[in-house]
Amino acid sequence: MASYGKNAGILAMEIYFPPTCVQQEELEAHDGVSKGKYTIGLGQECMTFCTEVEDIISMSLTAVTSLLEKYEIDPKQIGRMEVGSETVLDKSKSIKTFLMQIFEECGNTDIEGVDSTNACYGGTAALFNCVNWMESSSWDGRYGLVICTDSAVYAEGPARPTGGAAAIAMLVGPDAPIVFENKFRGSHMAHAYDFYKPNLASAYPVVDGKLSQTCYLTALDSCYKRFCINYEKIQGKQFSLNEANFFAFHSPYNKLVQKSFARLFFNDFLRNASSVDEDAVGKLAPFSTLSKDESYQSRDLEKASQQAAKPLYDEKVQPTTLIPKQIGNTYTASLYTALASLIHNKHSSLVGNRVVMFSYGSGLTATMFSLKLNEGRHPFSLSNIGMAMNIAEKLKVRHEFPPGKFVETLELMENRYGDRDFVTSKDTSLLAPGTYYLTEVDSMYRRFYAKKPGSSGGGTTNHHGSMANGH
Ligand SMILES: CC(C)(COP(=O)(O)OP(=O)(O)OC[C@H]1O[C@@H](n2cnc3c(N)ncnc32)[C@H](O)[C@@H]1OP(=O)(O)O)[C@@H](O)C(=O)NCCC(=O)NCCS
Repeated sequence: MASYGKNAGILAMEIYFPPTCVQQEELEAHDGVSKGKYTIGLGQECMTFCTEVEDIISMSLTAVTSLLEKYEIDPKQIGRMEVGSETVLDKSKSIKTFLMQIFEECGNTDIEGVDSTNACYGGTAALFNCVNWMESSSWDGRYGLVICTDSAVYAEGPARPTGGAAAIAMLVGPDAPIVFENKFRGSHMAHAYDFYKPNLASAYPVVDGKLSQTCYLTALDSCYKRFCINYEKIQGKQFSLNEANFFAFHSPYNKLVQKSFARLFFNDFLRNASSVDEDAVGKLAPFSTLSKDESYQSRDLEKASQQAAKPLYDEKVQPTTLIPKQIGNTYTASLYTALASLIHNKHSSLVGNRVVMFSYGSGLTATMFSLKLNEGRHPFSLSNIGMAMNIAEKLKVRHEFPPGKFVETLELMENRYGDRDFVTSKDTSLLAPGTYYLTEVDSMYRRFYAKKPGSSGGGTTNHHGSMANGH
């Protein structure tokens, strides 16, 4: 066993999202807003949600089990497990402890790590913890496991179409195909009340949508500035958007991702960077004298920079947007659903590429970091990861609920939030084999889960249904 993990990073990924969804176009009509508000205005296509038989724990049980099965990872080989989530089901007991059921069964209770929480940033904190462990003298040679799991639901109103639900499990190990370039990281952390959950009797956040957008963009500017400084110090040349092949963003809704990339482009313009051609310089020149505060408020700048950045957006961002547009905001999982989209779309052609990631959690915490993609060793190769997640099929087999039924489902969950002494319908007809589901919350608030018989499978697998030995 090595004492320090070299080239630590993500070896494999699995994504799970509920098979129940609502089309944004239908939601627009149901909510009585103008046509195009959710689809063009917010840039969202569809939204997944949990029904009463699924929650953050069942989704993460499914994602972890499926990942271990597909890659034939013996649960005894896991030495650390970290969970990122902002969905509160218990104020003390971590989600990680629920997942320990998988490992206890195999006799492995020697697994460090607990949950990390700060809005949508918890998954990144969990991932950094795991990678740092692997690169430290505490590492015992085993794999790390990071899980991001959230169910994003909003009260009736403008934020409701920006919900979503998913769990992502990531296997962390040395000599990874997805390696962290730790030295370039830039963070911005501050105190803000843009989105928070002070009402412990409700699953819904208090959200100041407009403020959260400004907080996000302010944090983005600050992280980008630090990222560039760090890059330039180490690489001895200027960083510009040309230095990375792709940019993945935390995605509460796609419009904010479009605005974010345009903002980075505007930053490059102000820095005289090579990514901004003469034509774009001409379009952005009228805004060069705006103060920072004015620049966040200027609709004309927003429009001009989005337009000027569009060709680069199509090349460097669009391939990361498939899942976030299709399933919605998945909070801690959101940024990693963007990475999963990229791997799904580009798989082995990504070898040698750099991906810049922007993680944002309201309140607020934000980090920009970068990943370098390598071939990886079988079964941990980019093409295997892309195939095994089986994203196209998972998106295709979803069941569309009419908006009325989606709202009814949310109402049932609203009434049950924090409740005890109930059994669910145990209706698993829409769930794939191998999916975990909630059966009961007893009189002592203890939660019980069962697994729908069958293997989660579903990847491009060999005849044994695993990634480990197939070629
Ligand atoms: C984002 C949010 C504020 C939007 O709600 P809203 O104030 O009702 O929406 P707006 O009126 O600003 O419309 C949204 C966008 O759709 C556009 N739009 C509205 N109607 C439209 C239509 N019929 N066709 C096309 N676009 C339309 C608006 O112009 C606006 O785009 P812009 O931002 O480029 O100007 C709200 O959904 C929200 O609070 N979401 C949660 C925010 C969140 O997740 N915060 C955490 C961030 S990490």
